[in-house]
Amino acid sequence: MAALVCFDAEGRWQDTLVCDHLIGRALAQAGVAWGRWPVREVDGSDAAAVRAAYGEEIAALPGHFEVRSADRVRVAPGQPGWPALRAQFLTEHTHADAEIRFFLEGAGLFYVRSGEGYAGLLCEAGDWVALPAGTTHAFDAGAEPDFDALRLFADPQGWVAQPTGHVLPAALPLFDDFVERLLEMTGHEAEVD
Ligand SMILES: [Fe+2]
Repeated sequence: MAALVCFDAEGRWQDTLVCDHLIGRALAQAGVAWGRWPVREVDGSDAAAVRAAYGEEIAALPGHFEVRSADRVRVAPGQPGWPALRAQFLTEHTHADAEIRFFLEGAGLFYVRSGEGYAGLLCEAGDWVALPAGTTHAFDAGAEPDFDALRLFADPQGWVAQPTGHVLPAALPLFDDFVERLLEMTGHEAEVD
């Protein structure tokens, strides 16, 4: 279940959207494209393998995203180096290239700063998201991360993170708190993944 939560400038939880149509519309207002692809086996992790499995879907991405390279990121609970990587992801940044992610397994939380507040997008297996170049954003996958995602690039050099220097409000919930609150609100008892 993907979800989008709108937060105010202080990081206070406002609207919760779990309807695909509303999620897509709200993200479009922030310039972000989002959708679902079927989850398929990807034989390898380079651009050719990704294009072989998802060529049709990639071709249907909004026109300004041209995928010239790709890789695959798998992060499992207890993975060494995760705390440092997590801190990097959680530091608000931009890229000179679009950031396109497709989740094959697991889940991750994107924060996009837009207008007067923040949009928190929880992506799960089957969700893709495309943040245009220059989008101010951060990412978290919790204390025990567990995801497998494809990363698609138009410019292999362009995804280097440029920190914005903007500090996210302390009230903005990280992945684990976000999921816990979302499950409380929606009455789900099962694990998100
Ligand atoms: Fe990023």
